[in-house]
Amino acid sequence: RKTAPLPDDIRAMKGAAPIVSLTAYTTPMARMMDGVCDFALVGDSVGMVLHGLNSTLGVTMEMMILHGQAVARGLTKTMLVIDMPFGSYEESPAQAFANAARLMRETGAAAVKLEGGRHMAETIAFLVARGVPVMAHIGLTPQSINTLGGYKVQGRAEQGDALMADAKAVADAGAFSVVLEKLPASLADRITAAIPIPTIGIGASVDCDGQILVVDDMLGLFTAFKPKFVKRYATLGEDGEAAIRAYADDVRARRFPGPEHIFADKAPGQ
Ligand code: KIV
Ligand code: NA
Repeated sequence: RKTAPLPDDIRAMKGAAPIVSLTAYTTPMARMMDGVCDFALVGDSVGMVLHGLNSTLGVTMEMMILHGQAVARGLTKTMLVIDMPFGSYEESPAQAFANAARLMRETGAAAVKLEGGRHMAETIAFLVARGVPVMAHIGLTPQSINTLGGYKVQGRAEQGDALMADAKAVADAGAFSVVLEKLPASLADRITAAIPIPTIGIGASVDCDGQILVVDDMLGLFTAFKPKFVKRYATLGEDGEAAIRAYADDVRARRFPGPEHIFADKAPGQ
């Protein structure tokens, strides 16, 4: 395709083709996935992955905007979605609209993502009615880590009904898709079958309508921990450490720079 899909195009992929997505935080990473992924998410995971925070709670609007602008510069054929950070939308629909509009205006993102199910339905409807496409995010919602009591699997046993109700509520409210994070595969499959909008799985099910991973996780760049649901497609972290050690050895042995890396003096008159 020549241009990036729009939220409606992503919605229309349900039942037609699996939706491919990754997070992105920088221009070069965005360029690597441009035209390959259907959408790229500037996730608030940026706080943990690139800034060394130990949760996503410390991520600010300013951080999201800077990374959103960087990612936007690398995308022409992949849709940009941006996370609303903790504290920027929960208070009221009006607060959510002001911050969503700012994120879209300053980054060019086509849609925002926010965490929450039934309790965010009113806000989702408010945003959608005012021109802000919303991707919802239910199951393990990392911004609520302190009330969820840890990064554990959500929706097991009788909790499953609550998650199903959340999925239906965000779909009814007008979300164009919903991320399902870390829940039993059987529940993810039931939700995918029950709602008219695409489900984007992370630690969910192979039969979700799409998948997402944190790009630094799947490249093996982020190695502080590896959730079970991450598949590593590369070992860039190990490769990078080895490269840095090789560089240090070269410098200490005066092997770098080599003749091909240095400049000769110019001949007189040139
Ligand atoms: O912030 C993030 O990276 C996310 C995805 C993992 C869905 O929200
Ligand atoms: Na996120």
